[in-house]
Amino acid sequence: MKAPPLALYAHFPWCVQKCPYCDFNSYTLREQLPEQRYIDALLRDLDSQAAGIEGRPITSIFLGGGTPSLFSPAAIAQVLEYARSRLGFDADVEVTLEANPGTIERGRFSEYRAIGITRVSLGAQSFDARQLARLGRIHSADETRRAAEELHAAGLANFNLDLMYALPEQTAADTEADLRAALALWPAHISQYHLTIEPGTVFAAAPPVQPADDIVDDMLERSLRLLGDEGFEQYEVSGYARPGARCRHNLNYWNFGDYLGIGAGAHGKITDASLDLVSRTQQTREPRRYLAADPAALARAPIAVRELPFEFAMNGFRLVEGFGDEVFEERTGLSAAVLKRGLEPALARGLVEHASRRWRATPQGFRFLNDILVTLLQ
Ligand SMILES: C[S@@+](CC[C@H](N)C(=O)[O-])C[C@H]1O[C@@H](n2cnc3c(N)ncnc32)[C@H](O)[C@@H]1O
Ligand code: SF4
Repeated sequence: MKAPPLALYAHFPWCVQKCPYCDFNSYTLREQLPEQRYIDALLRDLDSQAAGIEGRPITSIFLGGGTPSLFSPAAIAQVLEYARSRLGFDADVEVTLEANPGTIERGRFSEYRAIGITRVSLGAQSFDARQLARLGRIHSADETRRAAEELHAAGLANFNLDLMYALPEQTAADTEADLRAALALWPAHISQYHLTIEPGTVFAAAPPVQPADDIVDDMLERSLRLLGDEGFEQYEVSGYARPGARCRHNLNYWNFGDYLGIGAGAHGKITDASLDLVSRTQQTREPRRYLAADPAALARAPIAVRELPFEFAMNGFRLVEGFGDEVFEERTGLSAAVLKRGLEPALARGLVEHASRRWRATPQGFRFLNDILVTLLQ
């Protein structure tokens, strides 16, 4: 086993208003943001989790939420400075900040860029006023447009727009209109997520009617065609990028890389190559409890060896290009023959292909990734 690249995820759990579809660990901010207290907690958390893994520089950072853009550039800078001093950064480290278009004041992005943000992920979701209202978004389509203009003006052209599709009453033409509106803002990356009704959300209590499967198929086909025509490549189930603009942080997840997860409810994955051990971590979920908790109370659980092929494949098959046997062997410590045995049924059903020591999902398998994973569990 070999230690893979190391990334850092920092979670910022508050939002101006919780969206009715969202099951991320995020909460409506009902009082003043405890900005410095939270940053102090993040630094303690990082200090505690970095112990023992010094000497592995950070290759990418993702400041996610919730809504990290509720935090000032000066606050975010403290996290970056501490991470740099504690672990060191790779020369071309990617630092992504998630931002809600409703929280961006004029000039803000220039300040974020000045403190080391290299990439922004903007939650656009849709450009249709009716859909934005239904999704409980706090911003208009024009505010998203203004935020994109600000990004270009700040020299942060390397930005992503999050869109959702299969929205209630949405037609394939509506999805295409959303994409065209997004493309007009010249993003470098587009993430397009199928709206899922998650247990425990407001939408789960009164589920909206979503488009039928054939309409959803049409939406996906049109998206792939339009984005392809505009120079975007689909490289992951939900990810499209211009050449050179793939999200390195997400690529690290899909390639079963390591990441420290700091902040309320943050997940991490860490390899101890000397022990042939891969563990998952999770921090205290509820923000108030997290603020008061000892960071050493982090939950840490080893991934059982028999589960490693499934865990690896669950990530790797999300990539259009799939993955190589060598990376599987390095990052799980298992022989590629173990994976081959597990994937035999999926190979026989034409869900995956294996050539030149590389695995990838076939178009059929890519559409129904769960079918591949189920065969691995049998
Ligand atoms: C954690 S959110 C952070 C973005 C930021 N807070 C915002 O919404 O502006 C990341 C993205 O996940 C997507 N998302 C959240 N809930 C979803 C759901 N139930 N189905 C599909 N996509 C979802 C949205 O596109 C969202 O922008
Ligand atoms: S989608 Fe974004 S803004 Fe909405 S609740 Fe989730 S994290 Fe917050």
